[in-house]
Amino acid sequence: MARRMTAPRFREEKGKRRLVCITAYDVLTAGILDEAGVDLILVGDSLGNVVLGHETTLPVTLDQMLSHAAAVVRARPRALVVGDMPYMTFHVNPEDTLRNAARFIQEAGVDAVKLEGGAERVPHIRKLVEAEIPVMGHLGLTPQSILEFGGYRVQGRGEDAARALLEHARALEAAGCFAVVLEGIPAPVARAVTEGVGIPTVGIGAGPECDGQVLVVTDLLGMGSDVPRFVRRYADLRGVILDAVRRYAEDVREGAFPGPEETYPE
Ligand code: KIV
Repeated sequence: MARRMTAPRFREEKGKRRLVCITAYDVLTAGILDEAGVDLILVGDSLGNVVLGHETTLPVTLDQMLSHAAAVVRARPRALVVGDMPYMTFHVNPEDTLRNAARFIQEAGVDAVKLEGGAERVPHIRKLVEAEIPVMGHLGLTPQSILEFGGYRVQGRGEDAARALLEHARALEAAGCFAVVLEGIPAPVARAVTEGVGIPTVGIGAGPECDGQVLVVTDLLGMGSDVPRFVRRYADLRGVILDAVRRYAEDVREGAFPGPEETYPE
């Protein structure tokens, strides 16, 4: 049986092989993804858009994240499970950040947490690392910064912005992050960051030269109708579900379901 992934093992894979990461929000999906052999399952705060129907990730609460993270952990995955810290759970001060991250560890049972932001988060990250909580960083088009960015716009364009991004990534590494997500940045910038840090970079909309890739599971499976440019749809689950439910509805309406084989005899 394959060994369980840990944050130190994930970090050590940099430069050896490409790392496969994907989001999940429930036990059933997490079990299937783990069986497929992914390295890391992120319980992302994309929960807000994908599962809860919000337009942004900003309304997602810690309790909602904990509930879904605990469900994913109940699949007992071999993959590393990372809980995404939602907006306002790591913005007040390092002590408050530690209390919130510790709930992910103690109540949900995740292996690590992720939080968005750069050098400004260093004191918060250090506090978690001192408490032996593995931390994944997240730079670039960080969705919790949508109000500041004024929309979902590619970040890191231009020399100054690209240089700043690399500095932020180095600050996260120095603070003790075991990996960093790079979202919505030009491929050459992602390559420069990947070459410029000693921790794995995990790209989403950041080109092919990161150490790993992550996608939102429902995008990859073709469940949503509107996906960003960087998504590759590996299935058309929306079509599969529509077809199955339409056939079920027809059978029910025509009295063709349940049949004798789906009915308990006396
Ligand atoms: O919330 C999320 O799913 C994420 C990934 C897209 C990186 O942060």
